Amino acid sequence: MKKRTHGCGELRATDVGKDVTLSGWVQTWRDHGGVVFIDLRDRTGFTQVVFNTELDKKIHEEARRLRCEYVISVSGKVSKRPDGTENPKMPTGKIEIITKSFEVLNTSEPPPFEISDDVQVSEDVRFAYRYLDLRRPSMYKNLHIRHRVCKIMRDYFTEESFLEVETPILTKSTPEGARDYLVPSRLNPGKFYALPQSPQLFKQILMVSGLEKYFQITKCFRDEDLRADRQPEFTQLDLEMSFCEENDIFSLSEELMRRLFKDILGIKIKVPFERIGYGDAISRYGTDKPDTRFGMEIVDISKILTKCKLKIFSQVLTSNGSILAITVKGGDAFSIKEMDELTAIARDLGAGGLAYFRVKEGGKVKAPIEKYFSEDEVNAVLKETTAVAGDLILFMAGKTAASREILGSLRLHLNRKLNLTKKDDFKFLWVVDFPLFKYNEEGKRWDSEHHPFTSPRAEDLDLLEKEPGKVKSRSYDLVVNGMEMGSGSIRIHKRDLQEKIFKIIGIEKEEAQMRFGFLLDAFKYGAPPHGGVAYGVDRLITLFTGSDTIRDVIAFPKTQKGTCPLTAAPSDISEQQLKELSLKISK
Ligand code: AMO
Repeated sequence: MKKRTHGCGELRATDVGKDVTLSGWVQTWRDHGGVVFIDLRDRTGFTQVVFNTELDKKIHEEARRLRCEYVISVSGKVSKRPDGTENPKMPTGKIEIITKSFEVLNTSEPPPFEISDDVQVSEDVRFAYRYLDLRRPSMYKNLHIRHRVCKIMRDYFTEESFLEVETPILTKSTPEGARDYLVPSRLNPGKFYALPQSPQLFKQILMVSGLEKYFQITKCFRDEDLRADRQPEFTQLDLEMSFCEENDIFSLSEELMRRLFKDILGIKIKVPFERIGYGDAISRYGTDKPDTRFGMEIVDISKILTKCKLKIFSQVLTSNGSILAITVKGGDAFSIKEMDELTAIARDLGAGGLAYFRVKEGGKVKAPIEKYFSEDEVNAVLKETTAVAGDLILFMAGKTAASREILGSLRLHLNRKLNLTKKDDFKFLWVVDFPLFKYNEEGKRWDSEHHPFTSPRAEDLDLLEKEPGKVKSRSYDLVVNGMEMGSGSIRIHKRDLQEKIFKIIGIEKEEAQMRFGFLLDAFKYGAPPHGGVAYGVDRLITLFTGSDTIRDVIAFPKTQKGTCPLTAAPSDISEQQLKELSLKISK
């Protein structure tokens, strides 16, 4: 018998009368005495299957033994459901299959959780039984979308004459800011490979090789603290081009995003994307990945409060700090309890406290700190913050950078609390004009803001040694709804400049040669100017699936602790394996 003629989600009223065979899993079974009903599931959907004792006593008796997740193959006739029993929620809800014969292909133990999108199960259980979790329709849909996204990417870059090239997984450290995963080499005792944090160095070498246009959908590995949008192994869409400028990368990427959103979601996104300078992003939104969909911008009101009698404010101003504010539209409605919660969140974020004004009619404000403000000061604050009656103004006084960061996080919290944005409203931003270096207070040294292969702006070259903090880079990040979706830059392609940058970030010539000698050597042989970008594929897919975590768009993800409950990785290895690798574990 042919195992299937149709998928379980495919049959419609127009198929009534057809003889069909369906195969799949028993989703639910109902035994109504003389009739057994099951919903049969495969990846295409569900169909109601009927086993009727009046039609075939033996089949009906056998069907009574079916249980959830049994795998069966059913042959029968597509029939219109009796009036009043249609299910408008199911695409196949107008029909049912009247069984003529069926075969149990496999039995199943009762699963640890129901295979359904409504079921709430902990991630630990879901991951331990990932094969069952992936049977849930929403998980299949996520993987299907992932497949389509990757296909669109591959088609697009092929059309644009890019070559997909695989780069090594057992390799040498690529500095992307995380710890490396290391793999001991049996054949070279005491030596280790590093898993790539990205293909950065290889893609640059491919440019030296004259490939001109490279892309790859590839795994990257980073040993860092995990979050909803971070996995220890994740997938990048990585690309690099020779003889290009920032605008070439922007337009190439914008067209890709336009296609993806059109083909996957049927949404027309606005291109070209807006650009915002790094400095602007930090001062207006307190972050270099701003969600600009809901206003609530940070305003600096230090200048209008120089004479303010509130001691904490005046102290902050005399010690070179700032007084910053955000306005929450309608926030005057917050209860005392809500204000306490907000203050507790601000404290958790590192604030000493949270001062505020409730804005009332007629330019009046109400707050415990109100008496320290003159009428002129109140008016000036209202003008600067554009707050009106019914709003709430939140103040943050302290060191400028820290206060920006706290208000930046508070505005994200308020967006979630007040549901100010919709998941399917997408705002793309290129963040540009990043500084090339950031100062590492702990190590008292300069670090690269991105990675050390990023080119400085030509007009800032003179500042490199004198004032590294003022040098801007030719890097760019793509930010969507407050999430960093991608990052890239025009690269350094000359050996002397690359060596200079290494020196500034404290990598001396010898060390540079040891760690990146192969790239520096390649640069001796006519390296073309080049640049590129990498996008987080898992993050991008969450935009299309509406998932809250990238774990839902990865077939076999790790937990927050970096473990895999399915395989129990990472796990112990035998004494023999340790010996072969010349390793000893110190307890
Ligand atoms: P970057 O380190 O910014 O740049 O990485 C590029 C993009 O990869 C995604 N990403 C991650 N996704 C999930 N889990 C993680 N742990 C994780 N880390 C990063 C983000 C990020 O924007 N070689 C450079 C790119 C270049 O310069 O061309 C690089 O790797 O979406």
